[in-house]
Amino acid sequence: MVEIDPSLSIFAETLGKAPGRGRLQGRKILVVGGGQRDQPPDVEHSIGNGRAMSVLFAREGAQVVVLDRNQHSAEDTVKHIKSEGNVAYPYVFDVYAEAKETKKCLEEVKKMMGGLDGMVVVVGTSRRIPMAETSMEAWDEDFAINTRSHFMFCKHGIEVMDPGASIVLISSASAIRALDNNPVYEASKAALLALSRATARAGEDKAIRCNAICMGYVETPMGRSSGRKVKNRAATVAFGRQATGWETGYTALFLISHESAYTNGTTQIMDGGIWAGIATKPRDPRVLSAL
Ligand SMILES: NC(=O)c1ccc[n+]([C@@H]2O[C@H](COP(=O)([O-])OP(=O)(O)OC[C@H]3O[C@@H](n4cnc5c(N)ncnc54)[C@H](O)[C@@H]3O)[C@@H](O)[C@H]2O)c1
Repeated sequence: MVEIDPSLSIFAETLGKAPGRGRLQGRKILVVGGGQRDQPPDVEHSIGNGRAMSVLFAREGAQVVVLDRNQHSAEDTVKHIKSEGNVAYPYVFDVYAEAKETKKCLEEVKKMMGGLDGMVVVVGTSRRIPMAETSMEAWDEDFAINTRSHFMFCKHGIEVMDPGASIVLISSASAIRALDNNPVYEASKAALLALSRATARAGEDKAIRCNAICMGYVETPMGRSSGRKVKNRAATVAFGRQATGWETGYTALFLISHESAYTNGTTQIMDGGIWAGIATKPRDPRVLSAL
């Protein structure tokens, strides 16, 4: 077992403690899936990807609409943002059950902020079941949540969003590696990479960009719940720790900001170097809460 000190790779940004630097002044951004799943009271709480990016975007000067099917979770994210003196609004919407209302939803969101020039689609679900146990119904339902909803938000996003807007789709390292014996998750996340390119193509006339992010294991409520089912997760974490939701947030922050104005149709991998073959030795799977 190779030991590595995880604290060497932990900074204020890793923990969401860095101040805002005005990188999104005046921007109007929708985060689809900006809540996070509930956590048992007996564990130390971690921040989800959608909540972390909502908080960061607002801290950087944007107005943010936090969309989630879970009202109290969307409201908790908004409370967090307001506690820092920033601006956000909750919006309750189920991307699966209310898919046909997506355009109306986007129009209302645009009205709430007086514009819409950024959107991250974060929602995703994973049952972590192998192929033999995956039914046709499970395949269709998970594809609808993980891919169809992103298609609906991209298609109507191009119609409704302001020229020069940026869209970010949250995929997963499972899209590019057979990580977890989880075929419907892997296939639906891989489809998002092609969707981000197709969206970039479709949005070109309005200079609307689209990029995707593939994260490795992230220390979110979902990541923890998945990790419990993976025997050798320890062998695949880089730097001796999982990523934090804040680190996903900072990657999305770059892609949503005008700093990336010429970055389009790309896939950003954020896995600590696993895909590049850097973190190949077994590592101690320490999580941040244990540091
Ligand atoms: N945590 C990881 O290790 C990891 C790694 C790679 C990619 N991802 C991806 O990141 C995204 C977010 O993951 P997280 O770990 O922060 O998860 P999370 O479960 O904490 O957050 C997901 C949010 O989406 C909302 N949501 C789910 N279905 C919805 C629906 N039908 N309509 C509206 N809202 C809905 C949930 O209420 C929740 O607030 C997912 O797409 C996931 O696949 C996570």
